[in-house]
Amino acid sequence: MQIAPGAVAFMLVGLPDKAVAESRERVRAALIASGLALPAKRITVNLAPADLPKEGSHYDLPIALAVMGAIGALPADALAGYCVLGELALDGTITPVAGVLPAAMAANARGLGLICPAATGPEAAWAGGDMDVLAPRSLIQLANHFKGSQVMARPEPAVAAATGPLPDLRDIKGQEGAKRALEIAAAGGHNLLFNGPPGAGKSMLAARLPSILPPLSPRELLEVSMIQSVAGELKEGALSNRRPFRQPHHSASMAALVGGGINARPGEASLAHGGVLFLDELPEFSAQVLDSLRQPMETGEVMIARANPRKTY
Ligand SMILES: Nc1ncnc2c1ncn2[C@@H]1O[C@H](COP(=O)(O)OP(=O)(O)OP(=O)(O)O)[C@@H](O)[C@H]1O
Ligand SMILES: [Mg+2]
Repeated sequence: MQIAPGAVAFMLVGLPDKAVAESRERVRAALIASGLALPAKRITVNLAPADLPKEGSHYDLPIALAVMGAIGALPADALAGYCVLGELALDGTITPVAGVLPAAMAANARGLGLICPAATGPEAAWAGGDMDVLAPRSLIQLANHFKGSQVMARPEPAVAAATGPLPDLRDIKGQEGAKRALEIAAAGGHNLLFNGPPGAGKSMLAARLPSILPPLSPRELLEVSMIQSVAGELKEGALSNRRPFRQPHHSASMAALVGGGINARPGEASLAHGGVLFLDELPEFSAQVLDSLRQPMETGEVMIARANPRKTY
């Protein structure tokens, strides 16, 4: 970032997409709301590397902090050693973004700290016990922290409270063969196909599979949570220690099932990682959608290749 004399402008270069380009307006408004005027100079923000397209709203906070550093609203060396992500509201508050947990783990692996939105602090805190995590509510709170006038505490890692009991296998009368099949599938992590007349209890049996699965190991908990974090499905930044149970409707598209769309989001198959992907009314799914599950079932991985992002879940 550079502030130079010249025509007054706030330029953003480095292949920003629409959401990133609009970040200029949010940054400007948030700084004004925080009592910081932009200098009447030419400000150029370069998102390096310049040939890699940037998408998403999480660049707001790093851009704003770079400007604050350049105009002296933050101590010059305050930001060294931090990875930063977050979106800004017009009033200078910092709003949550997806993907904070993987960002925190990558930052920790490189020996960096993390500055992220307050709501995602509990998620970031999982990345490492001794990692420096700052989760401010607003630009002002962060500025006060660095000035030393109001030091923020490190967020605590949070686990979501279990939401009620799971459907129980004991509800099923008889069907000893089907129940044994469920137990074997649960113990061995096998795929399972129930075939039978209407009302035989197929849906009921399948819905009870989560109740006999073992709890997530700490490593699995992080894996499952990273996928949920990227998909923006972690509520209040709290991780869930329940195995996922995903039940997409048979009208689900290929992108919904195996991933894709904006940001090459993970699909139901990836969101079911470590848990159960339940396709009720299997024959009703389109053949193309079912075929797209073949590669993930064989390799355990989903690869989404589009023009630019190529991601493996
Ligand atoms: N073994 C069983 N024990 C207790 N209740 C059962 C049993 N089998 C079926 N039921 C009852 O019948 C209802 C219908 O079962 P379910 O919806 O699971 O059938 P299904 O095999 O999925 O049928 P469909 O092919 O129409 O989807 C269940 O909600 C449950 O109330
Ligand atoms: Mg059914």
